[in-house]
Amino acid sequence: MPMWEGRFSKKLDERTNDFNSSIKFDHRMYKQDIKGSIAHSKMLSKQGIIKEEESKSIIDGLNGILEDIENGKLEFDPNAEDVHMFIEAELTKRIGDNGKKLHTARSRNDQVALDIRMYLKEEVKELKEKLKKLILTFINKAEENTHTIMPGYTHMQRAQPITFAHHLMAYVQMFLRDLERLNETYKRINVCPIGSCALAGTTYPLDREFEAKELGFSKITNNSLDGVSDRDFIIELLSVISIIMMHLSRISEEIILWCSWEFKFIELDDSFSTGSSIMPQKKNPDITELIRGKTGRVYGDLNTMLTVMKGTPLAYNKDMQEDKEAIFDALDTVNLCITTLDPLVETMTVKKENMRKAAAEGFINATDCADYLTVKGVPFRDAYKIVGNLVKYCIDNNTTLEKLHINVYKKFSDVFEDDIYDAIDLINCVNKRNVPGGPAAEQVMKEIEIAKSKLSV
Ligand code: ARG
Repeated sequence: MPMWEGRFSKKLDERTNDFNSSIKFDHRMYKQDIKGSIAHSKMLSKQGIIKEEESKSIIDGLNGILEDIENGKLEFDPNAEDVHMFIEAELTKRIGDNGKKLHTARSRNDQVALDIRMYLKEEVKELKEKLKKLILTFINKAEENTHTIMPGYTHMQRAQPITFAHHLMAYVQMFLRDLERLNETYKRINVCPIGSCALAGTTYPLDREFEAKELGFSKITNNSLDGVSDRDFIIELLSVISIIMMHLSRISEEIILWCSWEFKFIELDDSFSTGSSIMPQKKNPDITELIRGKTGRVYGDLNTMLTVMKGTPLAYNKDMQEDKEAIFDALDTVNLCITTLDPLVETMTVKKENMRKAAAEGFINATDCADYLTVKGVPFRDAYKIVGNLVKYCIDNNTTLEKLHINVYKKFSDVFEDDIYDAIDLINCVNKRNVPGGPAAEQVMKEIEIAKSKLSV
């Protein structure tokens, strides 16, 4: 029978119970629920609301439950309404009447808000570690490729020469911002709602600060209605995770392109690729496609919570129970994607020659050719036009800027001299882009050092 049976004359319909119950997913928070209850019971006795020996027996009972859940001796009852009811009922089963005192000056409304915040604090810390590890993998790959020339693209058209390191470090910047966002969100999660009770606080002389401190929170919530009905921190975390997924999806998309025959810039390790059931030649990048696909699912989780919350009046409403499946799913998904992508990137082979070949074919040094003329006094717009004509000539004659004889150059502009070949040499083109944030090896190495220093905080 549920704990609220007193008011009712009939047992809850079985189907309603199944529908109403959240234990199949909120049992994940059993540790947080127990720790929260231990702190609550300590506070109650410190304030003289319950006796010290009552508190002691509650704490012993709760520790016993924790131990039994962890070593598999105690299973969650699928018929329990939620993890909070389950643990409280189990406590009373074990220690008798003292167990019934635990819920003094507390409601499941502030209890669930507390538990989910405690749970998410741990999750954010773990996610940050995973993300840092992924960043390090990208940095390591970048360090090996500071001189690996590849074409940089705009509109998926070869544009200007960069290095593979420069390209990878762009993702490092994205992931570093994700870390910052996680830190910011953590601050908003790290606020203790317990003591808000059902919605209007309580008449008991609570020490909310004590309880918050016991549980490692930085501060307490300032309004009891908001304390039980705020789910902003979940929506915020879902947005941060969605942005992380968007970044993972973008690199996944690039990896998919890069390992196609059309590019062949990289080769995935066999242990991170899959085959086809019918086409014997196939080696498919399923992992990265799945990451791209799962991004949609996480966006769905964010959308779920935005929609769940938009029409809920103050304070707690049962709609809010929907928060857990959404945030758990998003966390599971992002963790899984990061831990799979990490070794995939670590083990992939970079086909430097193919990148170099692609870089040599797309006139990606045309800007440098125009800059060469500009440095020698030709106005940039004129230089731009001269090089445009040169490129057209090359296309018509199936050749490249590097291969053109100096006499041909001179037909387009007599400013051209023999030093043009140095000016359009791809390595020079990259290394001359020595502006902070640019692709020159010197700059990328600086960028790598800055990124590394951000990982240690
Ligand atoms: N299982 C509920 C949830 O996840 C706990 C709070 C229920 N509170 C209530 N008054 N029914 O939101």
